[in-house]
Amino acid sequence: MAVLVTGGAGYIGSHACVELLLSGRDVVVLDNFSNSSPVALKRIKDLTGKSFRVYNVDLLDKAGLEHVFSENDIEAVLHFAGLKAVGESVSVPLKYYRNNVIGTVYLCEVMQQYGVKRMVFSSSATVYGVAENVPITEDSRLTAINPYGRTKLMIEELLHDIYQADDEWRIAVLRYFNPVGAHSSGKIGEDPKGTPNNLMPYIAQVAAGKRPQLSVFGANYPTKDGTGIRDYIHVVDLALAHLKALEYIQAHAGIEAFNIGTGVGYSVLEMINAFEQASGKTIPYIVSERRNGDVALCYANPDKARSRLKWQAKRDIHAMCEDTWRWQSNNPNGYQSVSDSRQAPIEKESPLVKTAAFLL
Ligand code: NAD
Ligand code: UD1
Repeated sequence: MAVLVTGGAGYIGSHACVELLLSGRDVVVLDNFSNSSPVALKRIKDLTGKSFRVYNVDLLDKAGLEHVFSENDIEAVLHFAGLKAVGESVSVPLKYYRNNVIGTVYLCEVMQQYGVKRMVFSSSATVYGVAENVPITEDSRLTAINPYGRTKLMIEELLHDIYQADDEWRIAVLRYFNPVGAHSSGKIGEDPKGTPNNLMPYIAQVAAGKRPQLSVFGANYPTKDGTGIRDYIHVVDLALAHLKALEYIQAHAGIEAFNIGTGVGYSVLEMINAFEQASGKTIPYIVSERRNGDVALCYANPDKARSRLKWQAKRDIHAMCEDTWRWQSNNPNGYQSVSDSRQAPIEKESPLVKTAAFLL
């Protein structure tokens, strides 16, 4: 029996694959590589010494999905695949509704067709919109303030409806706070295309000298130093939460949402300071205007995950910064780094990776 990982070549999915394989699970990866590189998959194999099947299939390709389910004995799905850039979702909302919502509808239809009724879904703290109270608990009011957030909310709702109609489904909805960091090996990490939207990859690129300075989006928030406060969570802790969620749904029917965060908030200035310490580099910054849609404070109450999933974040802000810096320094151009071109990476367009599985 295997776990299907949609979006397994992506930032969080790749870290989840490593932990799944190291825990002895069989893994099948499905990805269309729209925001990732097959090189990440080669690195997963190098790190774990384990083989797994990979399908270059789009969630919107229903026949392709059926092919994956027909060829493999899948017991559960970790559903990471999705588009995640908030700004782009405002400019091209239909692309987001189509990819994220319709893609998930197809996936659930095929899961139902093959009697696979266990899913761990990648949701986001964005479903809390501008939270009324912090720390945020799972029963806080849900709302979305941009199309990306609305796709996450819609998917959460459709998953509830699926369970209402068929109580054999077992679903864990994980609401991630701010995933950062990288695997401690420095072999896999976040590889944003173009200018990073998020704080940590931006800081890392400034430290590496790829960008001259960071813009701090607002220093007049009602917080300890005036800058925005977030709950940064190490991606390996986040990956491990998925293994706990899989165990949980094995034992519990129903649909449950869990906050996946540390419960501790850090300001932008604290993150800059921690990164300077970890990297030994100075991070030049200027204070600029607030970014549209940003909130002052966002951090989790992670008690439910601690008590029900038996999961707790273990890696602190220093590990988050050190591991990000190791990844950034070892891979200055992400997966496009020179060393990889010598390893003859699998081409996205290769006939080998079209729909048929390739084994890594
Ligand atoms: P990512 O872009 O690195 O990974 C997503 C993967 O899904 C990519 O490999 C991409 O190629 C693939 N994909 C996208 N659309 C697909 C489709 N139609 N068919 C097949 N594959 C497709 O993003 P990530 O940071 O790893 O995020 C994973 C999930 O977690 C996403 O659903 C995202 O919305 C959610 N999430 C991420 C964050 C974050 O800050 N990174 C925070 C909260 C929630
Ligand atoms: C962003 C997304 C949110 C998503 C979350 C986790 C937006 C508007 N929101 O939120 O939907 O759920 O990531 O992936 O994109 N900052 C700077 N300078 C920068 C970048 C960020 O000062 O160049 C600040 C922000 O104002 C914020 C903090 O750093 O206070 C963190 O920003 P970011 O990493 O983008 O995460 P979120 O704002 O939480």
